[in-house]
Amino acid sequence: MTRTVSITNNKGGTSKTTTALNLGAALKRAGHRVLAIDLDAQCNLTLGAGHMPGNAHAGTFLLGETSFEETLVETESFDLIPSHKTLLSYEYRINTEPDSAFFLKDYLFNKQYDFIVIDCPPSLGALTVNALVASDFYLIPMQGENFAYVGLNEILQLTAKIKKRLNPDLELAGILLSKFDHRTKFAQMVYAKLQQNTNLKLLKSHIRQDVTLMECAAFGKNIFAYAPESRGAKDFDALCQEILAL
Ligand SMILES: Nc1ncnc2c1ncn2[C@@H]1O[C@H](COP(=O)(O)OP(=O)(O)OP(=O)(O)O)[C@@H](O)[C@H]1O
Ligand SMILES: [Mg+2]
Repeated sequence: MTRTVSITNNKGGTSKTTTALNLGAALKRAGHRVLAIDLDAQCNLTLGAGHMPGNAHAGTFLLGETSFEETLVETESFDLIPSHKTLLSYEYRINTEPDSAFFLKDYLFNKQYDFIVIDCPPSLGALTVNALVASDFYLIPMQGENFAYVGLNEILQLTAKIKKRLNPDLELAGILLSKFDHRTKFAQMVYAKLQQNTNLKLLKSHIRQDVTLMECAAFGKNIFAYAPESRGAKDFDALCQEILAL
């Protein structure tokens, strides 16, 4: 059975791509067949997996212009449906179709993977809706060092609507605190505040600040290939175990 996880937060720079890259790679290292999908026109996951964007990408795949096999690339980290800087024009075209929310779910039907990890863009448009409709779980990475949780309501409202109308199976895997420094009073305050909210399901694992997480993606590598002894590798291993236990 395939488990599909969307990594989503409409706020920018909250570690979505870092999480998709390294959770995907951790799941593959644990022996699972992993497909990752880059749904962000910034192409950060595509580049982080060491692939240069080309003519076949998530946009052409979603509109049926390229087949799954034509779009797929094998990388060191996982199999990948890459993105392209023109993806927004494809999102616009998808939006004009009556069944626009179901394109990704339909095209992923019966694919032979244990996990599909989807890196969402920092917005809640048609691509994010497609990801959530195709998913069993969604994971929200956020920072513990500012009031990032203020924007959480928008995602939770969208996912509640999608669960009610389009995908009853959708569940929150949890909120993942990233770039987290538990030693600061402020981080502890944010953590306590999130814990008080019983709707929010905070994951036990968190990802500490670690410069090698920034470096690895810039070199087109996952953290296990780039710095296997790093804090980042340990934290993503722990997250992987927690996700496997869901
Ligand atoms: N735990 C961490 N420690 C250090 N740097 C991190 C960590 N997590 C992410 N970063 C860095 O923070 C920046 C933003 O992270 P990332 O690209 O993963 O966020 P994002 O949510 O995907 O952003 P966007 O909304 O633009 O897609 C990147 O430069 C990344 O390398
Ligand atoms: Mg990103």
